[in-house]
Amino acid sequence: MSDGRPLRAAVVGLGMMGRNHVRVYDELPGVDLVAVADPDPVALRRAVTGRAARAYPDATRLLAEERPDLVSIVAPTSLHRAMTIEALEAGANVLVEKPIASDRDEAEQMIATAERCGRMLTVGHIERFNPAIRELRARLAANELGRIFQIRATRLGPFPARIRDVGVVIDLAPHDLDIMRYLLGSEPVRIYAETEQRIHTDHEDLFNGVIKFANGVVGILDINWLTPTKMRTLSVTGERGMYVADYINQDLVFYANPEATQVWENRGADNSDEPVTTVAEGEMTRRSIPKREPLAVELAEFALAVRDGGPPPVDPRDAMVALLLARKMVEAGATGSVISGTALAEVLA
Ligand SMILES: NC(=O)c1ccc[n+]([C@@H]2O[C@H](COP(=O)([O-])OP(=O)(O)OC[C@H]3O[C@@H](n4cnc5c(N)ncnc54)[C@H](O)[C@@H]3O)[C@@H](O)[C@H]2O)c1
Repeated sequence: MSDGRPLRAAVVGLGMMGRNHVRVYDELPGVDLVAVADPDPVALRRAVTGRAARAYPDATRLLAEERPDLVSIVAPTSLHRAMTIEALEAGANVLVEKPIASDRDEAEQMIATAERCGRMLTVGHIERFNPAIRELRARLAANELGRIFQIRATRLGPFPARIRDVGVVIDLAPHDLDIMRYLLGSEPVRIYAETEQRIHTDHEDLFNGVIKFANGVVGILDINWLTPTKMRTLSVTGERGMYVADYINQDLVFYANPEATQVWENRGADNSDEPVTTVAEGEMTRRSIPKREPLAVELAEFALAVRDGGPPPVDPRDAMVALLLARKMVEAGATGSVISGTALAEVLA
Protein backbone atom coordinates (compact mmCIF):
# COMPACT_ATOMS: atom_id res chain seq x y z
CA MET A 1 0.00 0.00 0.00
CA SER A 2 2.43 2.69 -1.15
CA ASP A 3 0.49 4.84 -3.64
CA GLY A 4 1.35 7.96 -1.63
CA ARG A 5 -2.21 8.89 -0.63
CA PRO A 6 -2.94 9.42 3.10
CA LEU A 7 -4.14 6.30 4.92
CA ARG A 8 -7.77 6.45 6.05
CA ALA A 9 -8.01 5.76 9.80
CA ALA A 10 -10.99 5.06 12.06
CA VAL A 11 -11.41 4.50 15.81
CA VAL A 12 -14.06 2.19 17.26
CA GLY A 13 -14.71 2.79 20.97
CA LEU A 14 -14.25 6.33 22.28
CA GLY A 15 -13.80 5.91 26.01
CA MET A 16 -10.77 6.72 28.13
CA MET A 17 -8.26 5.13 25.72
CA GLY A 18 -10.14 5.59 22.43
CA ARG A 19 -10.04 9.36 22.87
CA ASN A 20 -6.26 9.20 22.79
CA HIS A 21 -6.26 7.18 19.57
CA VAL A 22 -8.52 9.85 18.03
CA ARG A 23 -6.21 12.69 19.07
CA VAL A 24 -3.06 10.91 17.89
CA TYR A 25 -4.42 9.80 14.47
CA ASP A 26 -5.76 13.29 13.92
CA GLU A 27 -2.23 14.68 14.24
CA LEU A 28 -0.35 11.88 12.48
CA PRO A 29 1.35 12.87 9.18
CA GLY A 30 0.28 10.71 6.24
CA VAL A 31 -2.95 9.63 7.96
CA ASP A 32 -6.48 11.06 7.76
CA LEU A 33 -8.81 10.32 10.65
CA VAL A 34 -11.99 9.81 8.61
CA ALA A 35 -14.48 8.32 11.10
CA VAL A 36 -15.19 7.21 14.66
CA ALA A 37 -17.84 4.92 16.18
CA ASP A 38 -19.38 4.50 19.62
CA PRO A 39 -22.98 3.81 20.73
CA ASP A 40 -22.61 6.50 23.40
CA PRO A 41 -23.75 9.80 21.80
CA VAL A 42 -21.83 11.89 24.33
CA ALA A 43 -18.56 10.10 23.59
CA LEU A 44 -19.28 10.36 19.87
CA ARG A 45 -19.95 14.10 19.94
CA ARG A 46 -16.87 14.79 22.06
CA ALA A 47 -14.67 12.84 19.61
CA VAL A 48 -15.75 14.68 16.45
CA THR A 49 -16.11 18.19 17.84
CA GLY A 50 -13.54 20.36 16.06
CA ARG A 51 -12.50 17.49 13.77
CA ALA A 52 -13.31 16.48 10.19
CA ALA A 53 -14.04 12.85 11.22
CA ARG A 54 -17.59 11.53 10.67
CA ALA A 55 -19.51 9.99 13.59
CA TYR A 56 -21.21 6.56 13.52
CA PRO A 57 -23.23 4.87 16.27
CA ASP A 58 -21.88 1.46 15.21
CA ALA A 59 -18.82 0.00 13.53
CA THR A 60 -20.73 -1.98 10.87
CA ARG A 61 -21.98 1.14 9.10
CA LEU A 62 -18.65 2.89 9.53
CA LEU A 63 -16.78 0.02 7.85
CA ALA A 64 -19.27 -0.23 4.97
CA GLU A 65 -19.40 3.49 4.23
CA GLU A 66 -15.83 4.60 4.95
CA ARG A 67 -13.68 1.60 3.90
CA PRO A 68 -10.81 2.62 6.26
CA ASP A 69 -7.24 1.34 5.79
CA LEU A 70 -6.50 1.45 9.52
CA VAL A 71 -8.89 0.71 12.37
CA SER A 72 -8.19 0.94 16.10
CA ILE A 73 -10.51 -1.24 18.18
CA VAL A 74 -10.66 0.41 21.61
CA ALA A 75 -13.90 -1.08 22.93
CA PRO A 76 -14.17 -3.33 26.00
CA THR A 77 -12.15 -6.56 25.69
CA SER A 78 -15.26 -8.77 25.46
CA LEU A 79 -15.97 -7.13 22.06
CA HIS A 80 -12.44 -7.39 20.62
CA ARG A 81 -12.94 -10.69 18.79
CA ALA A 82 -16.16 -9.83 16.93
CA MET A 83 -15.10 -6.27 16.10
CA THR A 84 -11.63 -7.23 14.91
CA ILE A 85 -12.94 -10.00 12.65
CA GLU A 86 -15.59 -7.68 11.20
CA ALA A 87 -13.01 -4.96 10.45
CA LEU A 88 -10.51 -7.40 8.91
CA GLU A 89 -13.23 -8.93 6.72
CA ALA A 90 -14.20 -5.42 5.60
CA GLY A 91 -10.62 -5.01 4.30
CA ALA A 92 -9.12 -2.92 7.13
CA ASN A 93 -5.82 -3.41 8.92
CA VAL A 94 -6.48 -3.58 12.65
CA LEU A 95 -4.79 -2.46 15.81
CA VAL A 96 -6.76 -3.90 18.70
CA GLU A 97 -6.11 -2.71 22.22
CA LYS A 98 -4.59 -5.07 24.78
CA PRO A 99 -5.44 -7.61 26.03
CA ILE A 100 -5.91 -9.06 22.54
CA ALA A 101 -9.04 -10.99 23.54
CA SER A 102 -10.64 -12.88 26.41
CA ASP A 103 -9.15 -16.31 25.69
CA ARG A 104 -7.03 -18.38 23.32
CA ASP A 105 -9.91 -19.42 21.06
CA GLU A 106 -10.87 -15.82 20.37
CA ALA A 107 -7.26 -14.75 19.75
CA GLU A 108 -6.64 -17.69 17.38
CA GLN A 109 -9.78 -16.80 15.39
CA MET A 110 -8.61 -13.19 15.06
CA ILE A 111 -5.12 -14.21 13.92
CA ALA A 112 -6.53 -16.73 11.43
CA THR A 113 -8.90 -14.11 10.00
CA ALA A 114 -6.03 -11.66 9.46
CA GLU A 115 -4.09 -14.37 7.61
CA ARG A 116 -7.10 -15.39 5.51
CA CYS A 117 -7.92 -11.77 4.59
CA GLY A 118 -4.30 -10.77 3.95
CA ARG A 119 -4.61 -7.86 6.38
CA MET A 120 -2.44 -6.75 9.31
CA LEU A 121 -3.46 -7.48 12.88
CA THR A 122 -1.42 -5.91 15.68
CA VAL A 123 -2.08 -5.25 19.36
CA GLY A 124 -1.68 -2.12 21.50
CA HIS A 125 1.09 -3.28 23.79
CA ILE A 126 1.98 0.35 24.32
CA GLU A 127 4.88 -0.18 26.73
CA ARG A 128 7.02 -1.56 23.87
CA PHE A 129 6.91 1.92 22.35
CA ASN A 130 8.06 3.75 25.49
CA PRO A 131 11.43 5.39 24.70
CA ALA A 132 12.86 4.25 28.07
CA ILE A 133 12.08 0.61 27.25
CA ARG A 134 13.46 0.93 23.71
CA GLU A 135 16.70 2.37 25.12
CA LEU A 136 16.88 -0.33 27.79
CA ARG A 137 16.37 -3.06 25.18
CA ALA A 138 19.21 -1.68 23.05
CA ARG A 139 21.51 -1.52 26.08
CA LEU A 140 20.68 -5.08 27.12
CA ALA A 141 21.27 -6.27 23.55
CA ALA A 142 24.72 -4.59 23.73
CA ASN A 143 25.38 -6.74 26.85
CA GLU A 144 25.80 -3.68 29.12
CA LEU A 145 24.64 -5.62 32.17
CA GLY A 146 26.53 -8.84 31.43
CA ARG A 147 24.57 -11.81 32.72
CA ILE A 148 21.06 -10.84 33.80
CA PHE A 149 19.87 -12.11 37.18
CA GLN A 150 16.47 -10.56 37.78
CA ILE A 151 13.74 -8.48 36.14
CA ARG A 152 11.16 -6.78 38.33
CA ALA A 153 7.97 -4.99 37.24
CA THR A 154 6.12 -2.61 39.55
CA ARG A 155 2.72 -1.38 38.35
CA LEU A 156 0.75 0.14 41.21
CA GLY A 157 -2.08 2.62 41.32
CA PRO A 158 -5.61 3.39 42.44
CA PHE A 159 -8.62 1.32 41.41
CA PRO A 160 -10.11 2.45 38.04
CA ALA A 161 -13.87 2.27 38.72
CA ARG A 162 -14.73 1.90 35.02
CA ILE A 163 -13.09 -1.55 34.75
CA ARG A 164 -15.70 -4.13 35.73
CA ASP A 165 -15.14 -7.09 33.41
CA VAL A 166 -11.65 -8.28 34.47
CA GLY A 167 -9.35 -8.22 37.48
CA VAL A 168 -5.99 -6.51 37.83
CA VAL A 169 -4.03 -9.47 36.44
CA ILE A 170 -5.78 -9.63 33.06
CA ASP A 171 -6.00 -5.83 32.81
CA LEU A 172 -2.40 -4.95 33.66
CA ALA A 173 -0.08 -7.97 33.81
CA PRO A 174 -0.09 -8.59 30.01
CA HIS A 175 1.95 -5.35 29.72
CA ASP A 176 4.71 -6.64 31.98
CA LEU A 177 4.60 -10.26 30.84
CA ASP A 178 5.05 -9.05 27.27
CA ILE A 179 7.87 -6.65 28.15
CA MET A 180 9.74 -9.35 30.08
CA ARG A 181 9.64 -11.75 27.10
CA TYR A 182 10.48 -8.86 24.73
CA LEU A 183 13.55 -7.80 26.74
CA LEU A 184 14.85 -11.23 27.73
CA GLY A 185 14.13 -13.18 24.55
CA SER A 186 13.48 -16.16 26.81
CA GLU A 187 10.36 -18.13 27.75
CA PRO A 188 8.89 -18.82 31.21
CA VAL A 189 9.41 -22.36 32.49
CA ARG A 190 7.75 -22.00 35.92
CA ILE A 191 5.29 -19.51 37.39
CA TYR A 192 3.65 -18.87 40.73
CA ALA A 193 1.30 -16.15 41.98
CA GLU A 194 -0.45 -14.79 45.03
CA THR A 195 -3.63 -12.80 44.39
CA GLU A 196 -6.05 -11.05 46.74
CA GLN A 197 -9.42 -9.34 46.35
CA ARG A 198 -9.54 -6.44 48.84
CA ILE A 199 -11.74 -3.68 47.37
CA HIS A 200 -12.87 -4.80 43.87
CA THR A 201 -16.31 -6.43 44.11
CA ASP A 202 -15.83 -9.13 41.47
CA HIS A 203 -12.14 -9.79 40.81
CA GLU A 204 -8.66 -9.79 42.30
CA ASP A 205 -7.05 -6.39 42.82
CA LEU A 206 -3.65 -7.41 44.20
CA PHE A 207 -1.12 -9.61 42.41
CA ASN A 208 2.40 -10.78 43.13
CA GLY A 209 3.86 -13.17 40.59
CA VAL A 210 7.16 -14.99 40.20
CA ILE A 211 8.49 -16.38 36.92
CA LYS A 212 11.53 -18.51 36.25
CA PHE A 213 12.72 -18.02 32.67
CA ALA A 214 14.53 -20.67 30.61
CA ASN A 215 17.72 -18.56 30.66
CA GLY A 216 17.73 -18.59 34.48
CA VAL A 217 16.43 -15.04 35.00
CA VAL A 218 13.89 -14.59 37.80
CA GLY A 219 10.96 -12.30 37.00
CA ILE A 220 8.96 -10.57 39.74
CA LEU A 221 5.63 -8.83 39.16
CA ASP A 222 4.17 -6.49 41.78
CA ILE A 223 0.85 -5.18 40.48
CA ASN A 224 -2.21 -3.78 42.24
CA TRP A 225 -5.15 -1.38 42.15
CA LEU A 226 -4.78 -0.54 45.83
CA THR A 227 -2.02 2.06 45.92
CA PRO A 228 -2.93 5.76 46.25
CA THR A 229 -0.24 6.82 43.79
CA LYS A 230 0.73 5.62 40.32
CA MET A 231 4.06 3.76 40.02
CA ARG A 232 5.17 2.07 36.81
CA THR A 233 8.76 0.87 36.81
CA LEU A 234 10.86 -1.95 35.46
CA SER A 235 14.24 -2.85 36.92
CA VAL A 236 16.77 -5.27 35.49
CA THR A 237 19.65 -6.47 37.62
CA GLY A 238 22.74 -8.08 36.14
CA GLU A 239 26.38 -8.63 37.02
CA ARG A 240 27.47 -5.13 35.94
CA GLY A 241 24.69 -3.25 37.70
CA MET A 242 21.01 -2.42 37.56
CA TYR A 243 18.84 -0.47 35.14
CA VAL A 244 15.60 1.11 36.35
CA ALA A 245 13.14 2.34 33.72
CA ASP A 246 10.29 4.62 34.78
CA TYR A 247 7.45 4.34 32.26
CA ILE A 248 5.73 7.51 33.42
CA ASN A 249 8.71 9.89 33.33
CA GLN A 250 10.46 7.92 30.55
CA ASP A 251 13.61 7.91 32.68
CA LEU A 252 16.30 5.27 32.47
CA VAL A 253 18.81 5.15 35.32
CA PHE A 254 21.87 2.94 35.61
CA TYR A 255 23.35 1.90 38.97
CA ALA A 256 26.84 0.52 38.33
CA ASN A 257 28.43 -2.38 40.18
CA PRO A 258 32.03 -1.04 40.30
CA GLU A 259 33.41 -4.46 41.22
CA ALA A 260 32.10 -5.86 37.97
CA THR A 261 33.52 -2.96 35.99
CA GLN A 262 36.97 -3.82 37.34
CA VAL A 263 36.61 -7.47 36.40
CA TRP A 264 35.47 -6.55 32.90
CA GLU A 265 38.26 -4.04 32.38
CA ASN A 266 40.86 -6.60 33.51
CA ARG A 267 39.67 -9.16 31.01
CA GLY A 268 42.49 -10.29 28.78
CA ALA A 269 42.52 -10.14 25.01
CA ASP A 270 40.90 -13.57 25.04
CA ASN A 271 37.91 -11.92 26.82
CA SER A 272 37.97 -14.77 29.33
CA ASP A 273 34.72 -15.16 31.18
CA GLU A 274 35.97 -14.47 34.69
CA PRO A 275 32.90 -14.43 36.94
CA VAL A 276 31.91 -11.33 38.87
CA THR A 277 32.05 -12.32 42.53
CA THR A 278 31.19 -9.14 44.43
CA VAL A 279 28.67 -6.35 44.35
CA ALA A 280 29.18 -2.84 45.70
CA GLU A 281 27.42 0.50 45.40
CA GLY A 282 28.63 2.46 42.41
CA GLU A 283 27.78 5.51 40.38
CA MET A 284 24.29 6.31 39.28
CA THR A 285 23.86 7.64 35.73
CA ARG A 286 20.69 8.96 34.16
CA ARG A 287 20.67 8.12 30.44
CA SER A 288 19.48 10.93 28.23
CA ILE A 289 16.49 9.85 26.14
CA PRO A 290 14.35 12.05 23.89
CA LYS A 291 10.79 11.78 25.24
CA ARG A 292 7.94 10.76 22.90
CA GLU A 293 4.33 9.82 23.54
CA PRO A 294 4.30 5.99 23.33
CA LEU A 295 0.86 5.92 21.65
CA ALA A 296 2.10 8.32 18.94
CA VAL A 297 5.06 6.01 18.25
CA GLU A 298 2.78 2.95 18.26
CA LEU A 299 0.25 4.35 15.77
CA ALA A 300 2.97 5.85 13.55
CA GLU A 301 4.68 2.44 13.36
CA PHE A 302 1.34 0.73 12.66
CA ALA A 303 0.69 3.13 9.75
CA LEU A 304 4.24 2.72 8.45
CA ALA A 305 4.04 -1.09 8.57
CA VAL A 306 0.75 -1.01 6.63
CA ARG A 307 2.15 1.43 4.09
CA ASP A 308 5.39 -0.52 3.60
CA GLY A 309 3.94 -4.01 3.93
CA GLY A 310 6.22 -4.61 6.92
CA PRO A 311 5.58 -7.00 9.82
CA PRO A 312 3.09 -5.92 12.51
CA PRO A 313 4.80 -3.74 15.16
CA VAL A 314 3.58 -6.23 17.79
CA ASP A 315 3.06 -9.81 16.62
CA PRO A 316 -0.48 -10.82 17.69
CA ARG A 317 0.94 -14.20 18.79
CA ASP A 318 3.11 -12.40 21.37
CA ALA A 319 -0.01 -10.60 22.57
CA MET A 320 -1.81 -13.94 22.84
CA VAL A 321 1.04 -15.43 24.89
CA ALA A 322 0.93 -12.40 27.23
CA LEU A 323 -2.81 -12.94 27.75
CA LEU A 324 -2.44 -16.70 28.29
CA LEU A 325 0.40 -16.20 30.78
CA ALA A 326 -1.77 -13.71 32.66
CA ARG A 327 -4.59 -16.27 32.73
CA LYS A 328 -2.16 -18.90 34.10
CA MET A 329 -1.16 -16.40 36.80
CA VAL A 330 -4.84 -16.02 37.78
CA GLU A 331 -5.07 -19.82 37.93
CA ALA A 332 -1.88 -20.08 40.02
CA GLY A 333 -3.20 -17.45 42.43
CA ALA A 334 -6.60 -19.13 42.74
CA THR A 335 -5.25 -22.66 43.26
CA GLY A 336 -2.02 -21.92 45.08
CA SER A 337 -0.16 -24.13 42.62
CA VAL A 338 3.14 -23.73 40.81
CA ILE A 339 2.57 -24.06 37.05
CA SER A 340 5.33 -25.57 34.90
CA GLY A 341 5.99 -28.33 32.36
CA THR A 342 3.32 -29.10 29.78
CA ALA A 343 0.71 -26.93 31.57
CA LEU A 344 2.91 -23.92 30.84
CA ALA A 345 4.36 -25.11 27.53
CA GLU A 346 0.87 -25.26 25.98
CA VAL A 347 0.63 -21.47 26.43
CA LEU A 348 3.72 -20.99 24.29
CA ALA A 349 2.88 -23.60 21.62
N1 LIG B 1 -2.78 0.15 26.08
C1 LIG B 1 -3.15 0.63 27.25
O1 LIG B 1 -2.33 1.04 28.07
C2 LIG B 1 -4.60 0.68 27.60
C3 LIG B 1 -5.05 1.60 28.57
C4 LIG B 1 -6.42 1.63 28.85
C5 LIG B 1 -7.29 0.77 28.19
N2 LIG B 1 -6.80 -0.11 27.26
C6 LIG B 1 -7.71 -1.05 26.58
O2 LIG B 1 -8.57 -0.30 25.74
C7 LIG B 1 -9.86 -0.91 25.69
C8 LIG B 1 -10.91 0.13 26.11
O3 LIG B 1 -10.61 0.55 27.44
P1 LIG B 1 -11.10 1.97 28.01
O4 LIG B 1 -10.39 2.15 29.28
O5 LIG B 1 -10.97 3.02 26.95
O6 LIG B 1 -12.63 1.66 28.29
P2 LIG B 1 -13.85 2.70 28.42
O7 LIG B 1 -14.89 1.95 29.18
O8 LIG B 1 -13.39 4.01 28.92
O9 LIG B 1 -14.32 2.90 26.92
C9 LIG B 1 -14.91 1.89 26.13
C10 LIG B 1 -15.74 2.58 25.05
O10 LIG B 1 -16.20 1.56 24.16
C11 LIG B 1 -17.53 1.94 23.80
N3 LIG B 1 -18.27 0.81 23.24
C12 LIG B 1 -19.00 -0.13 23.90
N4 LIG B 1 -19.60 -0.95 23.01
C13 LIG B 1 -19.25 -0.52 21.78
C14 LIG B 1 -19.58 -0.93 20.48
N5 LIG B 1 -20.38 -1.98 20.25
N6 LIG B 1 -19.05 -0.25 19.42
C15 LIG B 1 -18.22 0.80 19.63
N7 LIG B 1 -17.89 1.24 20.85
C16 LIG B 1 -18.40 0.59 21.91
C17 LIG B 1 -18.13 2.48 25.07
O11 LIG B 1 -19.31 3.25 24.83
C18 LIG B 1 -16.97 3.31 25.61
O12 LIG B 1 -17.03 4.63 25.12
C19 LIG B 1 -9.79 -2.14 26.61
O13 LIG B 1 -9.49 -3.28 25.84
C20 LIG B 1 -8.61 -1.81 27.52
O14 LIG B 1 -7.97 -2.97 28.03
C21 LIG B 1 -5.50 -0.15 26.96
